[in-house]
Amino acid sequence: MKESVGKVPGLAVILVGTRKDSETYVRSKKKACEEVGIDSYGVNLPEDTTQDEVLNFVKKFNDDPAVHGILVQLPLPKHISEEAIVGSVCIEKDVDGFHPMNIGALAMQGRTPLFVSCTPKGCIELLVRTGVVIKGKHAVVIGRSNIVGTPAALLLQKQNATVTVVHSKTPNPAEVTRNADIVIAAVGVPELVRGDWLKPGAVVIDVGINPVEDLSTKKGYRLVGDVCYKEACQVASKITPVPGGVGPMTIAMLLSNTLESAKRAYG
Ligand code: GUN
Repeated sequence: MKESVGKVPGLAVILVGTRKDSETYVRSKKKACEEVGIDSYGVNLPEDTTQDEVLNFVKKFNDDPAVHGILVQLPLPKHISEEAIVGSVCIEKDVDGFHPMNIGALAMQGRTPLFVSCTPKGCIELLVRTGVVIKGKHAVVIGRSNIVGTPAALLLQKQNATVTVVHSKTPNPAEVTRNADIVIAAVGVPELVRGDWLKPGAVVIDVGINPVEDLSTKKGYRLVGDVCYKEACQVASKITPVPGGVGPMTIAMLLSNTLESAKRAYG
């Protein structure tokens, strides 16, 4: 039974459309809130919702004192500008850390963002909590998305790693990755990183969650990461599994950011 103490953190979750993966993520996030006693306010909107309608929901939650975090699940349908929606969330409730002000602060020396995006924050938490030394190490981040690759590279730099970002136009990604002590793969290509991309003893964080056809399973597909686990686990000293590695950490960081926001709001 939930015990009420009068000050309960609240998270608003906005989902637009019916993408199966997004529906699953949002369900997991709301369930996690329930488990720890965070109130969640879910809004599921149809695919043809206009940008203004989404903006109105964000505004409503920006103005609602019971809401301490606002999450708009990405990607949004094509007719809605991600930039406009992400930029409309007030930075004090931006528990996803996607607002340009929060990412900008992350990129600047001597500045501390109000929130750091959940998946990259979860990657660093995994490294720190398992005793991996980041300072002075060479980290390679594969992928440069706003959600994971770019903030992960910035966070690793803040932890005093030397960081290389590998992306789709990098001439020889395997050669670059083979120099890494720490690899964060966040590119969305099933099993791109093979065993021979890795330096023996490297620490590997696999952010990818890619469905690949597998007719031997009930659903007809299985989930694999951006790293070929079977090969990589022979070479790496530590490696995260898919599923069950980074995914739960993203949710944990979301809950932590929401609690932090509520604490700030209640003073
Ligand atoms: N889509 C993929 N990852 C995320 C995330 O961490 N937050 C949101 N809002 N959308 C996502």
